[in-house]
Amino acid sequence: MDRTISTSRGLRGTVSVPGDKSISHRSVMLGALADGECVIDGFLRAADPLSTLACFGRLGVRHRFDGERLIVSGNGLHGLRSPDGELDAGNSGTTIRLMAGILSGQPFTTVVSGDQYLVKRPMRRIMEPLGRMGARIASSAAGTAPLTIDGRAPLTAVEYELPVASAQVKSAVLLAGLFADGTTTVVESEPSRDHTERMLRLPVEERSGRRHISVTGGTRIPAQPFLVPGDPSSAAFFAVAAAIVPGSQVLIRNVGMNPSRTGYLDVLTKMKARIAVENERTVGGEPVADLVVSSSELRSDIVVEGELIPNLIDEIPVLAVAAAFADGSFTVKGAGDLRNKETDRIAAVCSNLRRMGVDVEERPDGFAFESKKRLFSSDFDSFDDHRIAMAFGIASLALDGASTIKDAACVSISFPNFWDDVASLQR
Ligand code: S3P
Repeated sequence: MDRTISTSRGLRGTVSVPGDKSISHRSVMLGALADGECVIDGFLRAADPLSTLACFGRLGVRHRFDGERLIVSGNGLHGLRSPDGELDAGNSGTTIRLMAGILSGQPFTTVVSGDQYLVKRPMRRIMEPLGRMGARIASSAAGTAPLTIDGRAPLTAVEYELPVASAQVKSAVLLAGLFADGTTTVVESEPSRDHTERMLRLPVEERSGRRHISVTGGTRIPAQPFLVPGDPSSAAFFAVAAAIVPGSQVLIRNVGMNPSRTGYLDVLTKMKARIAVENERTVGGEPVADLVVSSSELRSDIVVEGELIPNLIDEIPVLAVAAAFADGSFTVKGAGDLRNKETDRIAAVCSNLRRMGVDVEERPDGFAFESKKRLFSSDFDSFDDHRIAMAFGIASLALDGASTIKDAACVSISFPNFWDDVASLQR
């Protein structure tokens, strides 16, 4: 499905962003291992978390929906059963990598694969630490799925220093640590999203600028309710839309404000976006707020690099769009892992920026450009990547004339109502 988007004369109104994708996946996984029923409110009913739910169904975990509420009947820490065939993680890197941690600790062998994009993504980053813990994981020669995970019970507890700043790798090791014979510690020097450690209430020690997160093997997960806040990565699209479309003011409700995820707001604020944070509260152990974003003249001259990268890794495409409408320059450095996402997001962002007239320099670990004011409506390619589709859908609202997003239905991965929500804000 292609989507045509025309210039907006100002976005007005209110949107509530759907549930956080990272927390939705983790709610299902922890719910599956819990001692009893877990009620999950705010679950993101989109393709990626539904892949996780389907995989755990195949592992013998029952669930039901009561309206929008999801109820997962946990089988306890040792209650998963061997599935009768391959598990399908769909398009979801979080599903395959986090689930691999859990499957490593099972007394059976599981094969996990995914769609044509997932089977190109690197898996050695989890195979290596999980292998050290005693699991045997076979992959393709290129280190990609399908993965054949020959679990071991118990696993060996390890101390593991993350070689890549990745919440998925950190979480895979911590989840495997639940099935290990002692205390497993993950050490990270560049902080990444901390939902797993928060949800498992794990002790975190800061020592010489590094976070040490520990989990004790055999820790039971109590039956508990989960409240999933709105996804900041989804809110970022509307924040940028309201900032770049002249005459806009948008209230974005229920936005997760976990400090490991709000780097995009810092960058937009540096760009002189007008953002008011209102109604700050705590939802299910996570900080949440409403954002009011109004259009303004943006000014860039920003370098995004270092510790900030893992914090806003998923928002880089839409931040690049914001910068294209700002005066000044925009540089992203040290973000080579963007090439390993649902698509090669460095190449995808550069290709689409060029189509709208931005003279961007593509680099192995990022890109750089000087924004210029003459930009054009265009035909954009989503590369079948939800965040690329949404980022350039937002750009289209601020470009003169009509633009097209090719294969725009891929937004169903994380934000099924995205195009309707955009339309609802158009005057
Ligand atoms: C995620 C971690 C990030 C992020 C992905 C979700 C998570 O991936 O890009 O969308 O839920 O842990 P990496 O850990 O590979 O950086």
